[in-house]
Amino acid sequence: MVHKAGQSIIVSLMRLIHITDPHLSTLDGLGFLGVRGKRRSGYLSWYKNRRFAHRREILDQLTESVARHDPDRILLTGDLVHIGLEREMKEAAAWLRTLGSPGKVILVPGNHDNYATDSLESMYRQWGDYLPQRNGDAHDYTAGFPFEHRAGSLKITGVNTSCVTRIFSAAGELGQSQRGRLLISLDPGQDDHFHCLLIHHPPLPGIIYRRKALRDAGELGDIIRRTKPHLVLYGHIHCNREDHLTDTRIYCTASASDAENASYRIFDIEQADPGWHCRMRLVALQDRQFKTVAEESWQATVS
Ligand SMILES: [Fe+2]
Ligand SMILES: [Fe+2]
Repeated sequence: MVHKAGQSIIVSLMRLIHITDPHLSTLDGLGFLGVRGKRRSGYLSWYKNRRFAHRREILDQLTESVARHDPDRILLTGDLVHIGLEREMKEAAAWLRTLGSPGKVILVPGNHDNYATDSLESMYRQWGDYLPQRNGDAHDYTAGFPFEHRAGSLKITGVNTSCVTRIFSAAGELGQSQRGRLLISLDPGQDDHFHCLLIHHPPLPGIIYRRKALRDAGELGDIIRRTKPHLVLYGHIHCNREDHLTDTRIYCTASASDAENASYRIFDIEQADPGWHCRMRLVALQDRQFKTVAEESWQATVS
């Protein structure tokens, strides 16, 4: 679609919707003794808190609301499940198919997806068509990452920070080699796309305490400062938050199944001359309905 706005001609580009942390699986019928090791603490956390905090009926309502906006791409930043079991991955795969095809739903995993040493294989078995092809070591969670997805003037780079951690840790890590590949992918000299980075963990230091933080957030912050992607989207902390770092807008969105505050963000990105016109709407659950609760527009420049 082409229309005139003032003196410049604007070409409609893309509608992106960000959702994150659906934590959609149920552990009903499993029992504390049905799991071992680190998964026992995860099961207890689900039994005591998460099964009340994350509601499937809320997620289904959000999914229907998202579909009504007819997004070009749905960007999903991880934590589809709770403790990375094969049965949970099957549930997640069924939900993903209702959300959209692999070309439409662009996702990165979270720490609750790659929860234990057998989770990565389960994930690739059940929803591998939504993940990048792994070249190299199949046990390396960073294999195939960062991936690049291009659509017109849009370029999405996705990284995997979901390393398997010890009990009681929800930390993440890019690792040196993934960071090196990311620096190349985000290099603004490569092209003049509108550039969006997807990551599960908070991309900057100081947003969350150490036990849940990205171990190399300082290094990633330097990469973002140097390369200036237009948009960074993440999850993990289950709240709505916005940060600016030079010309980069960085957004976290609350969990898509949160019984109190389920949210999603709509980004309308239009190519202008020069750069892009961007509009963000935050849609959140209020009085049992999804309503727009915040909105902002800005002009993004060519890096
Ligand atoms: Fe989460
Ligand atoms: Fe997480």
